[in-house]
Amino acid sequence: GKPWELAAHPRLAKGKMVGVVVLDGWGEAPPDPFNCIHAAGTPTLDALKKAAPERWRLIKAHGTAVGLPTDDDMGNSEVGHNALGAGQIYAQGAKLVDLALASGKIYEGEGFKYIRESFDSGTLHLIGLLSDGGVHSRFDQLQLLLEGASEHGARRIRVHVLTDGRDVLDGSSVRFVEMLEEDLARLRDKGVDARIASGGGRMYVTMDRYENDWQVVKRGWDAHVLGEAPHKYKNALEAVKKLREDPKANDQYLPPFVIVDESGKPVGQIQDGDAVVTFNFRADRMVMLAKALEYENFDKFDRVRFPKIRYAGMLQYDGELKLPSHYLVAPPEIERTSGEYLAHNGVRIYACSETVKFGHVTFFWNGNRSGYFNPSLEKYEEIPSDIGIPFNVQPKMKALEIAQKARDAILSRKFDQVRVNIANGDMVGHTGDIEATIVGCKAADEAVKIVLDAIEQVGGIFVLTADHGNAEDMAKRDKSGKPLRDKDGKVQTLTSHTLNPVPIAIGGPGLAPGVRFRTDLPNAGLANVAATVMNLHGFEAPDHYEPTLIEVADK
Ligand code: 3PG
Ligand code: CO
Repeated sequence: GKPWELAAHPRLAKGKMVGVVVLDGWGEAPPDPFNCIHAAGTPTLDALKKAAPERWRLIKAHGTAVGLPTDDDMGNSEVGHNALGAGQIYAQGAKLVDLALASGKIYEGEGFKYIRESFDSGTLHLIGLLSDGGVHSRFDQLQLLLEGASEHGARRIRVHVLTDGRDVLDGSSVRFVEMLEEDLARLRDKGVDARIASGGGRMYVTMDRYENDWQVVKRGWDAHVLGEAPHKYKNALEAVKKLREDPKANDQYLPPFVIVDESGKPVGQIQDGDAVVTFNFRADRMVMLAKALEYENFDKFDRVRFPKIRYAGMLQYDGELKLPSHYLVAPPEIERTSGEYLAHNGVRIYACSETVKFGHVTFFWNGNRSGYFNPSLEKYEEIPSDIGIPFNVQPKMKALEIAQKARDAILSRKFDQVRVNIANGDMVGHTGDIEATIVGCKAADEAVKIVLDAIEQVGGIFVLTADHGNAEDMAKRDKSGKPLRDKDGKVQTLTSHTLNPVPIAIGGPGLAPGVRFRTDLPNAGLANVAATVMNLHGFEAPDHYEPTLIEVADK
């Protein structure tokens, strides 16, 4: 294969400590009451922009710049960290599934052939996020899969729906369930026994990530597999509407529910001989359920029953674990990431975040690969997130703790790169709570200051950027940018990410004089960051990387 050795950079020295800070959910938008970053006041970040405009710029973090199908697709942490770490733009899961469905190739693949074996005598279960957010899944892909599976022989189909309200507006679950019911009715007209069987809100049922709280997955297991939940309804539309009547309820946190027949029996437990597809293309929030569905030996919770099923993921979610072993669409083969290159070139790397974002700066950064490239050079540290406390109740999250860990790692001088993700803008932004998001953004700015101070002390370099927008805009807007109001005149809260670009700033005492951003890359995006970081470590980036953002001017 291609060599791993990187050429020395002609102008930039090796051996500088490089601190890489990713602010999660931190885009750039005009000042506005719904721009929580602006409202928070961020003296540390503002100072960087003011002090060195030639070392501060915006880069693209959404759409085709990060491998998503179109420029109407907002950015997200998976594709964002993939691009930041890989230095290359790959067609991402969303796009690959689109192509496989459009060409029909999805039905010719090994994964579909495998589950089809169950269609004669078993039920096909589809489990996933019911949303058109395009972050974890897409409704139109579910529609096509339902149609295609029935055309290819599925006679009995059960859909297990996780309501969103995080990548799409809260309350939209009702419309998605209505639309799905219409599709299922059409299938029933064609003689396919197709129904919704269970569900719940994505943040409370099934879609946990990075092993933050297995109870979330257990609730899903109980509802989807065992047919057990505290709430039982005759149909899903009634379920979602009734559960939302609680004034504290929202789509993200709906309790688990099961659909039962006239005699109170669940309509869609998962049984021996059934086929199961998890239809999310994105990995992080499906890995835990995939383990529960696939692993013979499993001790994270009592499964009670472990049905013998044929299980396939929409994609393979973890390339290192080969999980799940069957999948409908091959994932992007993200190869030769900057982490792997730097490990081959002796760069010692420390990465840290709190649980809810830990895999972002490790697993996603390294191309959806778990574990170390070289354990003797790398150290990844996870700070446990608070469990069961909503992020708007503790908006400071673990920003301070992450910053202190980073500071200690920097001052230890044991690492050449110290990389962190600071989660507040995103996690608190997703709650839609403006006051809390402002507090979170302030905490993130203070955390950055701690890291920058440590870099100052060791004569290092910093690279500060973000993975996509979120906290900078908390209002749903019309085409002209005016906030949209609901029927009571209240501004509609935007809990999701945005299409905005994100800032990137470089600096620090170790930065060679004359280093500045090039001006010939107006459309640069997150994938240009990896080459930039390699340069700052004193290496030329490989030819197949997106170009570096920096140049060295003659004084
Ligand atoms: C989530 O999974 O929390 C959201 O759907 C996307 O957020 P992230 O891309 O910032 O993780
Ligand atoms: Co997010």
